[in-house]
Amino acid sequence: METVQLTIERFDGVTSYTQKYDIPYSPGKTILSHLFYIKENCDPTLNFTASCRSAICGACAVRVNGNAFLACDTRMEKMVQLFKTKELTIAPLGNFKVISDLVVDWDDKIERLKITKPTIQPKKEFTQETGCKQSPADFNKIAVQWDCILCGICASECTALTIDSNSFLEPFTFVQAERNAVDSRSMDPMYHGTPALQHGLWNCVRCFQCLKCPKDIRPAGRISSLRGVTMKHGVKNNLGARHAYAFLTDLRHGGRLNETKLLLRTEGIVVMKRTALAIRLLLHGKVNPFELFHQAKITGYVPLAHIVKDAMQKEGVK
Ligand code: FES
Repeated sequence: METVQLTIERFDGVTSYTQKYDIPYSPGKTILSHLFYIKENCDPTLNFTASCRSAICGACAVRVNGNAFLACDTRMEKMVQLFKTKELTIAPLGNFKVISDLVVDWDDKIERLKITKPTIQPKKEFTQETGCKQSPADFNKIAVQWDCILCGICASECTALTIDSNSFLEPFTFVQAERNAVDSRSMDPMYHGTPALQHGLWNCVRCFQCLKCPKDIRPAGRISSLRGVTMKHGVKNNLGARHAYAFLTDLRHGGRLNETKLLLRTEGIVVMKRTALAIRLLLHGKVNPFELFHQAKITGYVPLAHIVKDAMQKEGVK
């Protein structure tokens, strides 16, 4: 009989340890089915969560060989092919407090979700009689965000969260904030945008690990969208917004990034505090001080400038 060896990272409330299980390999069955096999046939003490078994409730997310998946929606065959081995390690989600074995604690995540006000505040024109009407085109702007099942995979994989959870919120929190901010029925997008800004909206490091989202919501893109919302509402005096405008300025005026001016435009005079970094960049040829005064334009930058101008007009960016 073909077997698969699952090494499970376990926790009994006090001690962390790993336990190996050699169980029958059922390529067409899911990770979750294999976990149930262990619980029903080998070890009833193994703890994990699952409910719908249909990729709807988000309860069953775990990490396999360091990567997060929905256990009920991922066939074991896929894992064996991806990692080229039948010896797999299954662990609880990262960036979560573990309660027991593969069970993680959502309490503080839900508290943090509340920070960006995850419910819509409708415009005053909507009454109980009229309801909150929305055109299909406007609904399409938020349709994919509604697919979020709060499985926690984006939070598990998030590099910014791993670095410092005090400076960034879970990506799904920004997804909910963006969905409410761009909803045509929302009274004030900044009702969600302001707390997002105050809790690290610009601190996403764009590692794109959150693109592992099983619903293809692409939280990094939603974070960019929410940044755009805040800029359109006039919040431009922060490092992130200044950095974005510095990029834009270079693209419009020469088609090439001017790394030397980029730093100055982004950080202004405060850059003096980072003299050591500036010297290191100079020594390694990362910045050219002469480009403060002149930088050649790229060939064909004129059509590029037109494209940027058209895109700005379309997006209503000034
Ligand atoms: S059990 Fe509900 S999403 Fe997997």
